[in-house]
Amino acid sequence: VKGGYDHFMLKEIHEQPVAIKDTYRGRLLVKEGIIRMAGIDDNLERILNANRIIVIACGTSWHAGLVSEYIFEDLARIPVEVEYASEFRYRNPVITEKDVVIAISQSGETADTLAAIKLAKSKGAFVFGVCNVVGSSIARETHAGAYTHAGPEIGVASTKAFTTQITVLTLIALKLAKEKGTISKSEFQHHLQELELIPDKVEKALLQDEHIKKVAETYKDAKNCLYLGRGYNFPVALEGALKLKEISYIHAEGYPAAEMKHGPIALIDEQMPVFVIATKKGHYEKVVSNIEEIKSRSGKIIGIVTEGDVDVKNLADHVIEVPETIESLTPLLTTIPLQLLSYHIAVMLDKNVDQPRNLAKSVTVE
Ligand code: F6R
Repeated sequence: VKGGYDHFMLKEIHEQPVAIKDTYRGRLLVKEGIIRMAGIDDNLERILNANRIIVIACGTSWHAGLVSEYIFEDLARIPVEVEYASEFRYRNPVITEKDVVIAISQSGETADTLAAIKLAKSKGAFVFGVCNVVGSSIARETHAGAYTHAGPEIGVASTKAFTTQITVLTLIALKLAKEKGTISKSEFQHHLQELELIPDKVEKALLQDEHIKKVAETYKDAKNCLYLGRGYNFPVALEGALKLKEISYIHAEGYPAAEMKHGPIALIDEQMPVFVIATKKGHYEKVVSNIEEIKSRSGKIIGIVTEGDVDVKNLADHVIEVPETIESLTPLLTTIPLQLLSYHIAVMLDKNVDQPRNLAKSVTVE
């Protein structure tokens, strides 16, 4: 059942190239220069006329929602708010018929997300679901939707669900950008081409596994870890920290790199591993200067960098390379080494990777 892998989580990490391809199959039509998504096409007017998009989700799916905020605002110029479903449902939120709500859920059964959807519907909002499990409660409760087609995710720690959610949300953002005319024809086409190349690049990122294992060995006894990123990769930092917490039980925090100096920098000493996402596209120089600040306080730096990087390599204790892509797609690559790193640390610490203590695969109670 685990396809020759020791754990479902490892199997699912390695399935990502195929899962991402399955997600965009039949939707991403590069030669024709179009994105085909029935759930969007059938409701195009409603979605294009939205005042804003409200994304609701929990956990890892909420992190995918945060990535989508950058894509929707950057490419489609639609204001986006990303909300924890559990907070949204209880704070008497302002929702109107002009709002489009996107609910993201792997299982399609998360109680808080489901309740938030019902609330949004009762206020007249149009609700679009991004689910993995076909026929799930959330898939049925939403007005329209797009499945991620990632295949069954058994490991409690979400991996391929996250990258396929980002893939679907990217397709939606690109499609809306094209319809709204906020992206040029050539830029749109360039995005389609780059997205089509992502599965092969994920495959390449996975080849770093042996090297990542060595990095894991070095830091497996840390008591605390920090994860930093900026822009599109800030949510990836949050997700990297969550993956480490949930399966290895090591305390970890994700932060926007520039927020360091507003507090967390006080934690830095030679005991503190800091994982910094520092890809070439997206605030590279600023991240390099954040790395210098950590270095001057003796923090240990592990950089997630673009292939061929020089500057971070010179400063960091370790680097893990990922292939180059356009900025908006970097989360699909930078996530991979952070998943593997958490996996290897948890295995080395002899934790139950697929079924971490206190956690359930789908949270059907609030
Ligand atoms: C983390 C994880 C959880 C889920 C969260 C939402 O690895 O698995 O944080 O992401 O419980 O679940 P779904 O996406 O099923 O609504």
